[in-house]
Amino acid sequence: LRSPAAAPDRLPFSRITQEDLDFFRKILAGRVITDPDLLESSNVDWLKYCNSRNLAVNPQGGNTGLVGGSVPVYDEIILSTALMNNILTFDSISGILTCQAGCVLENLSHYLEEKDYIMPLDLGAKGSCHIGGNVATNAGGLRLLRYGSLHGTVLGLEVVLGDGQVLDCLATLRKDNTGYDLKQLFIGSEGTLGVITAVSILCPRKPKSVNVVFLGCETFEQLLKTFQLCRGMLGEILSAYEFLDSECMRLLNTHLKLPNPISDCPFYVVIETSGSDPKHDGEKLHNFLEEAMTSSLVTDGTVATEDSKIKALWSMRERVTEALTHDGFTYKYDISLPVEQIYQLVTDMREHLGDRAKSVVGYGHVGDGNLHLNVVSPAKDPALLAAIEPFVYEWTTRCHGSISAEHGLGLKKRNYIYYSKPSQAVALMGNIKAMLDPKGILNPYKTLPDNLK
Ligand code: FAD
Ligand code: MLT
Ligand code: ZN
Repeated sequence: LRSPAAAPDRLPFSRITQEDLDFFRKILAGRVITDPDLLESSNVDWLKYCNSRNLAVNPQGGNTGLVGGSVPVYDEIILSTALMNNILTFDSISGILTCQAGCVLENLSHYLEEKDYIMPLDLGAKGSCHIGGNVATNAGGLRLLRYGSLHGTVLGLEVVLGDGQVLDCLATLRKDNTGYDLKQLFIGSEGTLGVITAVSILCPRKPKSVNVVFLGCETFEQLLKTFQLCRGMLGEILSAYEFLDSECMRLLNTHLKLPNPISDCPFYVVIETSGSDPKHDGEKLHNFLEEAMTSSLVTDGTVATEDSKIKALWSMRERVTEALTHDGFTYKYDISLPVEQIYQLVTDMREHLGDRAKSVVGYGHVGDGNLHLNVVSPAKDPALLAAIEPFVYEWTTRCHGSISAEHGLGLKKRNYIYYSKPSQAVALMGNIKAMLDPKGILNPYKTLPDNLK
């Protein structure tokens, strides 16, 4: 029996006797454990232990993060949430789901679909990423345009702090203005402020009618005009407006053997509508497509209403990341910009790098003003990297953009934080980190810059 230092006085509970053990063994045959070695892991409060031993901890979900945040830099202990995968509650009136942090996003989606609900976020990594990882990175994804960010849909969190304290903010209320909204601090904190162990999240109803359209445009300007037109004509049923350029299409064809569903164009758009009335949605979509075609904003297109074709069209956008990994070593940039400027960065980067890069591609979440700029080289190439950075960050800052729209800073981008945040803000982040994790054991070398002491 342990008597931890600073433990409160024992309350007058009975002591376990041999009779008690016999009783439990009778009702739980073979499942009563008394062997001290076997019980060791259940008795140790691991974060309290790590804090007292000054051991560094790297929280890990599905390990799909793209900025080097989910893997140790030296010998940090990997704390995986993979076994914390239980759904705790679901309220079918409010649509509020509560679950452990290690639930895989796609499993949550399947669970909800049977109950006529969906998750408010969706991303290409859905088969592997965990909801805890999604919250820790404040993942954006393909539906943010419609359902907003996790800062709005996450209603509560349970978090274990660096010293082992459990912070129970697992509320399931839509409105709660009692003091500071502490859970917001952990959304997007990339495992540096606490370990998220449970999440409650507000889920939308499953739409009764979903359509996906794949369109081709001659210029990025036409793609933006098409966006404006579709916002006006599709209104409340628009749930995604995503793009990829012809270089992405070439990589999808070459490496994944995915054929172009329409004729070759410089730019492609995936539009999704989600609504409650197939006839109403179909009419709106038809009118929009007619207008886009007759005004020559769009060159070619195809529409999907049934599941398998919807999936196939979405693959053209969701699998760009995978196609890139087959092309060579990829330098990835995840930039927020005023929407009119997002493709200019790709054009300027191509011109700036000339034939030093194997490919320079652009794709992303147009509806959110979020460009994914990727530069591929046959192998890791420090000279190429020196040509890309700080060029890309300076370009972004000139346009008042953000150097990380949705992937976070992790290990790879942490030292560039000052391009997007003033030094007072970064210093305040350092103070918050020091207050919540005074020994700095949680995900060291991540998110905050090296020069912050
Ligand atoms: P991990 O990769 O394991 O961890 C990411 C970070 O969160 C690390 O810093 C880790 O320490 C921390 N962390 C993980 N779990 C916890 C926890 N329980 N408590 C505290 N900290 C924790 N991102 C987008 O935003 N939008 C996209 O559209 C998108 N699409 C993607 C598509 C593909 C094909 C891939 C490979 C990645 C994509 N990503 C996208 C990036 C990534 O999937 C997301 O960032 C995802 O949310 C990470 O979840 P994860 O469980 O894999 O976390
Ligand atoms: C995406 O939108 O596809 C993701 O954020 C992944 C990536 O940037 O490659
Ligand atoms: Zn993305």
